[in-house]
Amino acid sequence: MAGLLLALDQGTTNTKALLVGRNGEPVFRKSTSVELLQPRPGLLEQDPLALWESVREVATACAEWARAQHATIDGIALSNQRETALAWWRDGKPAVNAVSWQCQRSISVCERVAPYAETIRERSGLPLGTLLTAGKWAWMLEHQPRMREAAESGDICLGTVDSWLMWNLTGGKEHVTDASNASRTGLVHLATVTWDDELLRIFDIPKRALPRICESSGCAGTCTTIPELAGVPIVSLIGDSHAALAGHGRFDAGSIKATYGTGSSLMMLTEGRVGTDVLARTIAWSANGEVQYALEGNIPMTGSAVQWVGEFLGLADPARDVAALAETVDDSAGIVLVPAMVGLGAPWWDSEARGLIANLGRFHKAAHLARAAINSIAFQVADVFAAMEAACKINLPGLATDGGATRNKMLMQLQSDLLQRPVHRSACEDLSALGTAFLGGLALGWWESFSDLAALPRESQTFSPTMPATRRDEMYSAWIDAVSRARLRTD
Ligand code: G3P
Repeated sequence: MAGLLLALDQGTTNTKALLVGRNGEPVFRKSTSVELLQPRPGLLEQDPLALWESVREVATACAEWARAQHATIDGIALSNQRETALAWWRDGKPAVNAVSWQCQRSISVCERVAPYAETIRERSGLPLGTLLTAGKWAWMLEHQPRMREAAESGDICLGTVDSWLMWNLTGGKEHVTDASNASRTGLVHLATVTWDDELLRIFDIPKRALPRICESSGCAGTCTTIPELAGVPIVSLIGDSHAALAGHGRFDAGSIKATYGTGSSLMMLTEGRVGTDVLARTIAWSANGEVQYALEGNIPMTGSAVQWVGEFLGLADPARDVAALAETVDDSAGIVLVPAMVGLGAPWWDSEARGLIANLGRFHKAAHLARAAINSIAFQVADVFAAMEAACKINLPGLATDGGATRNKMLMQLQSDLLQRPVHRSACEDLSALGTAFLGGLALGWWESFSDLAALPRESQTFSPTMPATRRDEMYSAWIDAVSRARLRTD
């Protein structure tokens, strides 16, 4: 067997590894779970050493498999959960637990920097909120005076998950992050792709403690710490949502994908700067000296809305049982669920909104609520899709989809019906790993250009709209009406 690329995808709940051949096809996969810690309600952390150990475990398993096949591993490509904040001493010991991207602890920082919200959005492209890595680092430095001193003297390294893994893969030689991960911190100037002095001043983060920013595709360092992979170059670093977009193999402006997980993320490649108040502007990736920009809309509750309804109904296997129950009825019989239990994300950005079950009648059964939960995913994705079209003033031809919930055919069909556009569901379950392998392969010269990547064979299933437009409009206006009621303040 010829050379292979080892793609590693470090996520919030698991770490996956994929061996990819020169035809772009995965030949072997391995995964392991990682733990999310909740020291107090609202606080979410992960053990940095456990994250690294999970990567080492799956990478070693892949290297052993490749050796048994007499195949070489030509490069390592990395994708990762974004925005999670880490800090470690120069001897490699974590200074604190990793602060998860979902953690709300930086609310006080957000309040402090609120007067600069417009400057932050203008320069970094991101709306101010607890998601930004900058606020989590600022929180750490504010709460641990020893860490602030060490950050200023260069004795501590700040980084995102990619930087932490790179530090460990290279035995502390590289303190580096890629353009896509850096663009999610809230500290990078989108136009120059450098740490922005004004943003660093606002959040009070010493530049000295931050990693250098490299291209997403290109050699970022060499592995020295996993014996089976010693000497193998690390040829791609990229955030997972961005990597999934690359994994769909669509690289033209207007290419758009939705990843369906606990929450959902829609990302669309753009040409030049797009003005928008309801979506984040971000860097999709950088390669061969060029930066590709994107718009992103994050929805906090999609898969977790289904889980919530399952728990609410007391079902044994909440998410699975809701999906099965929803299949037993033709529709939700008018029920609309707005899963705003933690507020609404893009495009509404209303942290005060609260969950709502609208239009309940005496005849409704649990199955109708289950169906409304599935519908709520499709409605929320359709809202962000419409915001993308409005921001770019274009008519998008369709939507590429990935993630666990896309296995639900009913959801994919409804998504297509609501958008009145085709929905292309990827057959690959490890799209982020595949996407980073694509960018790594570009760096290795396996593929010459993005057109070569777009031409690689890939499997997907297309769902085309079948619902009459009048029915679609009726359903969508019931949704919009319910959203406006979920946003009514009652206090
Ligand atoms: O922005 C957070 C996102 O990157 C997390 O992804 O796959 O770990 O849920 P995941």
